[in-house]
Amino acid sequence: MADRYIISNAPRLAPASLLARSLAIYIARMPIIGFLAQKGGAGKTTLAVHLAVLAGDALLVDLDPQRSAAEWWESREAELPELAVGEARDLSKALAATRRPWVLIDTAPHAAEAARVVAELADMVVIPTRPGIMDLRAIRATVEIAIAAKKSAAIVLNACPAGRGAAEASVTAEARQALMAYGLPVAPVAVIQRAAFSHALNDGRAVTEFEPEGKAADELHRLWEWISAEARTPSSQRHQRSR
Ligand SMILES: Nc1ncnc2c1ncn2[C@@H]1O[C@H](COP(=O)(O)OP(=O)(O)OP(=O)(O)O)[C@@H](O)[C@H]1O
Ligand SMILES: [Mg+2]
Repeated sequence: MADRYIISNAPRLAPASLLARSLAIYIARMPIIGFLAQKGGAGKTTLAVHLAVLAGDALLVDLDPQRSAAEWWESREAELPELAVGEARDLSKALAATRRPWVLIDTAPHAAEAARVVAELADMVVIPTRPGIMDLRAIRATVEIAIAAKKSAAIVLNACPAGRGAAEASVTAEARQALMAYGLPVAPVAVIQRAAFSHALNDGRAVTEFEPEGKAADELHRLWEWISAEARTPSSQRHQRSR
């Protein structure tokens, strides 16, 4: 079993330590990706654990008191990702302690203050949403948190109906259209609603491990390729590209 940081009772860091940690992260250029959505059930945990597996040498941080990611990790046999559980106020401690080149942070719904802390510390905010109109409207608060933190952010459409052949389902295409109003990039890969996710998560795996040649695995590989490239792109270049 991999080592595990229990950071829920960690002491708060002094300002000087915070500065040192920020400097260390800057030097190491460790991409930190926070998965935020104030609405429950959007796919934060599903995406965070799957992309942590694809990142390979990664720290997965579970800040949600439901501990869904941690429970998935407990039922897992593989060493990686490493896991840290705790509260948002302890996040800097977990970040300072890890040497992993990737950090993926799963967060709780209905926790705006914690989401703000994650958005401040992350290099990139990923906002999952289902494609229904109520879901699309509900991410407004999360989009505002990402924009206020001046962080790179992207929306990922999740649990979408399957399209025909290479074409996306009309619901997904309409959702892309509606999401343009937020002015944030939307990942070109939409994650389809597939039973493989439940099967894989049930025994501590990712779909890329459960069914490596399956459609869900293919989508997740392509999604990670896009998100990891976005997270590695310096923010100055990102701004230029989006103009
Ligand atoms: N693409 C998908 N295909 C099939 N099932 C999915 C997919 N995405 C998510 N689910 C399922 O939907 C449910 C909610 O997903 P998940 O737990 O990832 O959302 P969440 O945003 O983390 O929710 P919460 O806010 O409650 O933490 C879970 O049962 C999950 O297995
Ligand atoms: Mg969750």
